[in-house]
This record gives sequence, C-alpha cells and structure tokens, in this order.
Amino acid sequence: MRQGWVLGFGLALACSTVAVAEPNEPPGEPLSYAREVGRELFAREWIADDPRSAGGRGLGENANAESCVACHSLGGAGGAGGRSRNVGTVGDLANVFGGMQATMVPQGVLSIGRPWDGSTMGSPRNPPALFGAGLVDAVPETALRALAAREHAAHPAISGRVSETEDGRVGRFAWKGHIASLEDFVAQACKVELDIVVERPGEPEPAADLRAEELTALTQYVAELPEPREVADQPLARRGEAVFTEVGCIACHVESVGPAERVFSDLLLHDMGEALSDAGFGYAESAPSELVAVAQEWRTPPLWGVRDSAPYLHDGRADTLTTAIELHGGEAASVVASWRARSDEDRAALDSFLRSLTAPM
Ligand code: HEC
Ligand code: HEC
Repeated sequence: MRQGWVLGFGLALACSTVAVAEPNEPPGEPLSYAREVGRELFAREWIADDPRSAGGRGLGENANAESCVACHSLGGAGGAGGRSRNVGTVGDLANVFGGMQATMVPQGVLSIGRPWDGSTMGSPRNPPALFGAGLVDAVPETALRALAAREHAAHPAISGRVSETEDGRVGRFAWKGHIASLEDFVAQACKVELDIVVERPGEPEPAADLRAEELTALTQYVAELPEPREVADQPLARRGEAVFTEVGCIACHVESVGPAERVFSDLLLHDMGEALSDAGFGYAESAPSELVAVAQEWRTPPLWGVRDSAPYLHDGRADTLTTAIELHGGEAASVVASWRARSDEDRAALDSFLRSLTAPM
C-alpha cells in the first residue's frame, strides 16, 4: 500500500470532526452556488472512481490525502497542518533547480509533494493556514515591487526581493513565494495533493474531475475564509508589539501590505542563512536565474494567526515561537541579535504579542 493512502486513511477519521467555516453570509440568505460548492469541495473526501467527478477518475493513486481539510484544519477548516501533514518536494524536480534550467521549469512544480517520512529525497514543507488568503491574493504587484525598493533603502542589511514567475507575474504564495495567484495554487493543490484533474477557465478538459466553475468556486471559498483575529487590547501584547518594532522584526514582517492589514509580512524573499537552507535537497545555492528562490531564500510568512499554526518554519521544525526566532539567520541575524540582547521581560512581551495573533475561530 502506498504511504499516501495509509496517511490519508488515518486522517479521514480524524478530520470528520473538523467544523467547516461559514463564509460571512448575511443571515437568512441562501448560500450562493459558489459558496456552497466551494465549501463542499474543500471538505470533500475524494475516492477513486468518485461519482462526484465531472468526467474523470476521482482521487488518483498519487494523492497525498483525500481532502483539502485533511491538511488544513488547525484552528478550524482552512487552518495550518501538523508535522505529520508535511509534504516533500519531489527529488528529480528539485534537482532541476540545482541545474541551469530554472527558467524552463513550468511554474509551480516546486510544491509537488509526497508525504514526507524523513527518508525520501525532497525538501519538506509544512501546510500553512489559509485564513486571509483572499487579501494576500488582492495585494497589487506594484505594492510588492515598491516595498522591495523601499525596504532595501531603509535597512541596508535587509534586501527583500520579489519572487517573479516565468510569465512575469509576482509570486506571493508558498514558502518559496513561487506561486502568483490563489487560483493557480488551488488548481495545483487539486492536482498535486489530491491527484485529481482540474479544468482551468477557458481550457476545456473532457476528463476533468473538477469543472472550471467548480475550481473557481473552491478558489472563492478559500479567498473568503475569515481573516485571522487579534485578542483585544492586552497591555503586555501592546508592549510586545513595540519591542517587535524596535528590534526590527517589522523590517520583514511589515504590518500591512495593500488590503492585507496587520498581516505582518512583506511577502518578499529573504536570505535566512545556512541553518534554514534546503541546499541538500537540490536547490541552487546561488541564483541560476533571478526568478527562482535559491536554497537560503524564503518568503516572509504572514504572522497573523500565528498562535494557532504551530509547528513553525517551512518544514515545521520549530515547536515554539522562540525556537522559530532563534533559527533566523542571514539577513535577519542582526535583528535576532537585538532581540537576544533585550531583557527577559521584553522577550516575554514580544511572545505575548505573537500569541495575540490568532486563527479566526
Ligand atoms: C497533503 C497535505 C495537503 C493537502 C491535502 C492540501 N494541502 Fe494545501 N498546502 C500543503 C502544504 C505542505 C503547503 C505549502 C506548500 C509550499 O509552500 O510549497 C500548502 C499550501 C497551500 C496554499 C498556499 C498558502 C500560502 O499562503 O502560501 C493554498 C492556497 C493551499 N495549500 C490550498 C489547498 C487546497 C485548496 C487544497 C485542496 C484542493 C489543499 N491545499 C490540500 C499541504 C496540503
Ligand atoms: C530578514 C527578514 C526577517 C526578519 C528581520 C525577521 N523575520 Fe521572521 N521570518 C522570516 C522568514 C523568511 C521566515 C520563514 C523562514 C523559514 O520558514 O525557513 C520567518 C519566520 C518567522 C516565524 C515563523 C512563522 C511561521 O508561520 O512558521 C516567526 C514566529 C517569526 N519569523 C518571527 C519573527 C520575529 C519575532 C522577528 C524579530 C525578532 C523576526 N521574525 C524577524 C523573515 C524575517
């Protein structure tokens, strides 16, 4: 039996109790088609030869799980996933990035995943929370480019750069920042995580499991997941936010970008040093092309909702917020040194600020 199936099976039992988020629908109004179908698709447990399939074969044999919610459920449907839900990038594809053909790689292949058991070749990735993803999707490209230019001028040691896709769009999703839009990511998640065939709008696909309008509905559901919340005004958390700003976390974890208010991310790529490098997995150590993130580069993850998305960092190696901070190197080294130099009280206040950023439910 394939490992994906074993994992998926245990999971199906575990996730039947996960509540599915209600989009913000005016009371008394029936759910629109898109909302109803999108919500159903996010929670749906696919099976092989699924009668739900439009014209395809249902859950494929390379599926990593049977549903989206199987991996995105911490703090409610759409949340992050535990370490057991990590997937690994596929070795041969990762190797392409170690060579010189980076610009020829079709966009998106980096996230192709298999359940990661610690032994397979492939760089592990932990599932992030999707709350507020619609706002990240709506950030204008110009805002990201402007941020990259401004940031470098304001903090010479910090040089966030935009991740560009082959077709010239700005990436803003995934740990490597290589996916430009929510629809692209959702389509890829269907293909890679569930191994189902999706039809993209304007590209008819007779053997599709999901029709284009169903993909749109699923994307819309993810886009409308509620935003993360903040625990109301606690003096210690307010003091911690001041420490966060003073030591310079805010240089990368910027408060707001476009419509994503209090997102605490610049959505840009940063060199985070050797400890976080995934060079051993076939990523290039220096850029064969400016487009592709290299081994030590990661997109600043939004910190909204961070209390409820442990474990932390791209591979979920950090169980606590403090460990995640301690592992920052590269461009963040001097900021982390300032954080270490603070009193225990200041560091506890900062921790309390981070813990005030919670999942919506
Ligand atoms: C087997 C586990 C798994 C399943 C099933 C899964 N995901 Fe994910 N998801 C992940 C991982 C791991 C990542 C991070 C990948 C990366 O950054 O390269 C992720 C990232 C995402 C992101 C990008 C979030 C961001 O801010 O970068 C979106 C959107 C997403 N998933 C949607 C979905 C949808 C929709 C489904 C169902 C069709 C789904 N996922 C099914 C594991 C999973
Ligand atoms: C140079 C930019 C930069 C600076 C400065 C910085 N960070 Fe980060 N932070 C990142 C990146 C990039 C990651 C993701 C690294 C990875 O996953 O390997 C990250 C990850 C995190 C995470 C884990 C989030 C998650 O969802 O897994 C936390 C918590 C965090 N940072 C807090 C802080 C705090 C607190 C400070 C200040 C002491 C700080 N960061 C300074 C760029 C930065």
